[in-house]
Amino acid sequence: MVDDCFGHPRLAAVYDPLDPDRGDLDAYLRIAEETAARRVLDIGCGTGVFALQLAERGIEVVGVDPAHASIDVARAKPGAERVRWIRGDASAVPPMRADLATMTANVAQAITDPRAWAATLRSAYAALRPGGRLVFETRVPARRAWREWTRERTHRVVDIPGVGPVTSWCRVTEVDGPLVSFRWTYVFGADGGVLTSDSTLRFRERREVEDDLAAHGFAVEEVRDAPDRPGREFVFLARRP
Ligand SMILES: C[S@@+](CC[C@H](N)C(=O)[O-])C[C@H]1O[C@@H](n2cnc3c(N)ncnc32)[C@H](O)[C@@H]1O
Repeated sequence: MVDDCFGHPRLAAVYDPLDPDRGDLDAYLRIAEETAARRVLDIGCGTGVFALQLAERGIEVVGVDPAHASIDVARAKPGAERVRWIRGDASAVPPMRADLATMTANVAQAITDPRAWAATLRSAYAALRPGGRLVFETRVPARRAWREWTRERTHRVVDIPGVGPVTSWCRVTEVDGPLVSFRWTYVFGADGGVLTSDSTLRFRERREVEDDLAAHGFAVEEVRDAPDRPGREFVFLARRP
């Protein structure tokens, strides 16, 4: 099941303009440089922002995402022909001996089902060459980020060229242990259309992720901070031995 914010064509089309500051991707670009990656698998590539940044640098990229509408947005962008786009989860990726696999913007948290998470780690491992790395972030549970996901704090109006003003806000609908559910509401000023999107994220502890990575054959090399969100994210760098 794909969340509407990624899978509904009208919402996928405004994903980038509603969140245009992608400074979060700089750290991933630096890791691609540090590891001299020439071939990258971007799992949960969404609208393709990161995949396209890599492709612009001459890196061979496969982007995979289950949300059809997001992949369609990615495919329509300039330079999209340089990336191989696949609709599906990581298990849909053919063997590729990648140097690096990434999950940017908390994709890992969107994979809430333990079997789907295990399948993602298994598939990422299979897609990497020996020595290749998996890099991804997940929010630090102790920071309880969801307390900030209130209507007052998330409310914004963005005037999007060709679309008109879009008002959006979020509110938490349930907190059930490590699972946090929330609803985004979007009001399209041009025609008064209202859409909602329900999501659930899993907040995993650092130890839990380290154990999951080890159980799937990865060696955890480092757990970094996200430079743009200090203290708020665990960024895992794991290597396929
Ligand atoms: C917050 S978006 C991030 C998109 C992109 N990585 C970025 O940096 O903009 C989360 C993405 O995870 C994708 N996703 C959800 N479940 C997934 C799964 N099982 N495997 C891969 N991607 C998944 C969603 O479709 C969505 O595009």
